[in-house]
Amino acid sequence: MKRRLLFLGPPGAGKGTQAQMLAAGRGLLHLSTGDLLRAEVAAGSELGKQAEAVMARGELVSDALVLAIVRSRLEGQPQGGGWLLDGFPRNLAQAEALAELLDDLGQPIELVVLMELDDGVLLQRLLSRGRADDNEAVIRHRLEVYREQTAPLISYYRERGLLEAVEADGTMETVAGRIAALLE
Ligand code: AP5
Ligand code: MG
Repeated sequence: MKRRLLFLGPPGAGKGTQAQMLAAGRGLLHLSTGDLLRAEVAAGSELGKQAEAVMARGELVSDALVLAIVRSRLEGQPQGGGWLLDGFPRNLAQAEALAELLDDLGQPIELVVLMELDDGVLLQRLLSRGRADDNEAVIRHRLEVYREQTAPLISYYRERGLLEAVEADGTMETVAGRIAALLE
């Protein structure tokens, strides 16, 4: 089974929901840069103070900052332990930095799962979730940022033969089944 995974997709596609289920079921380290940043904000750390306003606007926090977070956690993960990256990388610079880090660690990505869903459904899901950055204007801006900065990663990983797409509509269990089928 593939144990080094990356979840890619627009805000609201269900990356966090699916990543949490899969990581718990298979003993993988679940690394969500969004969750880690929100924890820093909640703790009132220096890092959290830098990130808070940027996140509230729906823009990307600096590459250096998220990279430091990811690096420290991946370096502590034993060979063969497996991990699932959710919400990282978010642009080509982060993808290149990740490739370099994973090369150093000798732990290459085995599969990138692209979760696809219509904008209308994304918007509805996020509006009913109601996180601090889930108001309509900010959600629309996050979708724009996704299209401009993150979507280029689709062809980046496709060219490297790593990408598989799944439809992210239907129940959580249905989507989980589609993802599980890609892992064996
Ligand atoms: P982040 O936390 O990554 O947010 P996001 O990408 O906008 O994605 P979401 O978490 O909103 O969506 P999701 O796909 O995880 O969906 P979820 O499972 O929650 O990032 C937040 C901010 O942090 C960024 O804007 C940026 O500022 C910063 N940041 C993070 N990473 C960064 C990075 N690498 N570089 C720079 N900045 C970074 O599901 C959504 C809702 O739908 C939930 O309520 C869920 O219950 C529901 N749902 C899920 N699945 C289903 C289903 N099948 N049917 C019905 N409802 C469902
Ligand atoms: Mg998420």
